[in-house]
Amino acid sequence: EKAGYKHFMAKEIAEQPVVLGDALRHYLKADGVNLPEELNFSDIDRLTLVACGTAFYACSVAKYWFESLAGLPCEIDVASEFRYREPPLPQRSFALFVSQSGETADTLAALRHCKGKVARTIAVVNVPTSSIAREADLALPILAGIEVGVASTKAFTCQLLALAVMALKAGLDRGHLNAAQAAAHMNTLRTLPGLMNAALATSDEIARLAAQLAEAQDILFLGRGPMYPLALEGALKLKEISYIHAEGYASGELKHGPIALIDRSVPVIVMAPHDKLFDKTVSNMQEVMARQGKVLLVTDAKGVSTAAEGTWAHLHMPEVAEPFAPILYALPAQLLAYHTAIAKGTDVDQPRNLAKSVTVE
Ligand code: M6R
Repeated sequence: EKAGYKHFMAKEIAEQPVVLGDALRHYLKADGVNLPEELNFSDIDRLTLVACGTAFYACSVAKYWFESLAGLPCEIDVASEFRYREPPLPQRSFALFVSQSGETADTLAALRHCKGKVARTIAVVNVPTSSIAREADLALPILAGIEVGVASTKAFTCQLLALAVMALKAGLDRGHLNAAQAAAHMNTLRTLPGLMNAALATSDEIARLAAQLAEAQDILFLGRGPMYPLALEGALKLKEISYIHAEGYASGELKHGPIALIDRSVPVIVMAPHDKLFDKTVSNMQEVMARQGKVLLVTDAKGVSTAAEGTWAHLHMPEVAEPFAPILYALPAQLLAYHTAIAKGTDVDQPRNLAKSVTVE
């Protein structure tokens, strides 16, 4: 069942170029996006995205996309908070629920709370027969295939892909993107399986770095823009399976508190493609280095040539056009968690205290 891999998690990380390719073929046709016509964003003033854990971080990345590609105001929340704070739910809005299992109790309760109040409830799920898929007005599959490892990996990147395609449709429906701009973004998405293969090739190098990361008590992840939620996801993945305390921060927030933690014993993982925000992130990274923090920079060739000097280590990712880098950079984040857990000898597929599907609130 593990197809020669030691763990389901390793298998599921490695499968991503293939399953993402399948999902791409499903959602992108030669003449455009393949999504139901009823999913029309032109008369909508707001999108509410609700989920838990890794699925919530997928929603957090998607907020950047819906806003920048479609000019659509988005609200995101974790399901366990959402329905208790009496959020206003305008009729001219969609509410979107993301869940790998489709059975997460808080997400299901949030969906039930929204039904009938918003124009449409939409589920983005991996299990098409699940409660969340059945109860939503419209269910979209992420097509990741069965995910066994408790730490979500391929479901995350496939959730991101489904959300990216939706954001492109929203951009077209709302006249925020023209056909040529949308086609360019679709072509970027089509490059991802190939780029993921290159990212997976850093696995041995990550395993070597992980031997040292495994000694740490605390690890920070930094990112800016759509890479910020990816920093949160990297930290979640690491703490979940290696039991090392990890936190993700928006790079710019560092000096508002967390920088007090930095000394030579704290590794700081900076997820930063060479995008329009790169220079700002580098200056935050230099503040860490000035305090002897041990920086691992994950970036592309341009990022390596301009900023890798003086870091503890760097990982070289292929270049990917904005704004879809989080889909690619998820892989080194997953591999860092996986190899660090292996170096510590923890049970990566069945981490303590956790269940694959959380069916109690
Ligand atoms: O099945 P769901 O996507 O609704 O699950 C949500 C979270 O419980 C899940 O993503 C959890 O955070 C993972 N173990 C993260 O790796």
